[in-house]
Parts: sequence; structure tokens; C-alpha cells
Amino acid sequence: MTKSSGDKSEKEPWQGCYYKLEEVKKHNHSQSTWIILHRRIYDLSKFLEEHPGGEEVLREQAGGDATENFEDVGHSTDARALSESFIIGELHPDDWEKVEKPTGPYITTIESNSSSWTNWVIPAIAAIIVALMYHFYISE
Ligand code: HEM
Repeated sequence: MTKSSGDKSEKEPWQGCYYKLEEVKKHNHSQSTWIILHRRIYDLSKFLEEHPGGEEVLREQAGGDATENFEDVGHSTDARALSESFIIGELHPDDWEKVEKPTGPYITTIESNSSSWTNWVIPAIAAIIVALMYHFYISE
């Protein structure tokens, strides 16, 4: 863990506490369960048994980035407020790219846009070909 001076906040004492991904990965067991959510490190070791969604889902994510799964569940505002109390630090900026997932809602949107584009282009081309064939058939 590296601590940069000058940015310590009383409200958020974890600010400036950076952990490398390698360090986070080591905390993947029930004695010490860390997860990453939005580049912040959460120590959930004491929360496992209390988690309303069960401890198994947290164990599965232990030592890695659980942002996508956390958001997929649609946690309540209360759950998000509670989560703040487990933050112990932030992921080191050098490792941000390693947890960034390029496949997210943005890609899905692009894909769905492009598929809706092909949805009408392919039938349109097919219709033109049929029209041309019909035209040549009639004119013969
Ligand atoms: C700091 C971390 C977390 C906290 C404080 C937390 C807290 C909670 C709370 C309070 C609930 C009850 C429902 C609600 O209020 O939204 C809940 C439900 C749940 N959580 Fe979490 N959670 C955390 C992380 C995760 C992660 C990483 C996963 C998945 C990988 C997960 C999966 C679930 C599931 C599946 C439910 C049950 C949802 C349902 O029954 O509809 N949680 N969590």
C-alpha cells in the first residue's frame, strides 16, 4: 500500500491509500475478503455473514473487481451508503486499466444500434433484389 501525503480527509480517511491489484488479489479468502468497486477497495471480511445477498456471491468476487456484478444487482441507496463504511483505500492508478471493462453498457448500445441498422438494411436490399428480378421477369 502506498500513501500519498497531503490528501488525507477526515471524512474519508482511506483517500490516498493506494493498493496495487497484486495486493488486492491476495485477499481472496474468508479470513480476508477484499473486493474492488469503482476503483475503490472494500474489506468485506466482517460483512460476509451479514450480507443480505449471501456470503457466497462475495466470496466469488474476492480479490477482484466486482463492480459489474454489484451494479447488475441494483443495490439500494441504503446498501450503497453501507458500502462506504468498508472502504479501505483506492486501486493504484497504474492498475486502473486492468480492471476497466471495455464491454459495458456503451458497447452494448453500439452493438444494439448497429444491429438495428442491419435490421432494416438487409430486408431493404432483399426487397430491391426481388423487385429487380420481378422487373426482368415481366419485361422478358
Ligand atoms: C460493499 C459491498 C456490498 C454491500 C454493502 C452490499 C449490501 C447489500 C444489501 C444491503 C442488500 C439488500 C438489498 C439492498 O438493500 O439492495 C444486498 C443484496 C444483494 N447483494 Fe449485495 N452488497 C455488497 C456487494 C455485493 C456484491 C459484490 C454482489 C455480487 C457479486 C452482491 C450481490 C447481492 C445480491 C445477489 C443481493 C440480493 C438481491 C435480492 O435479493 O434481490 N452484493 N447487498
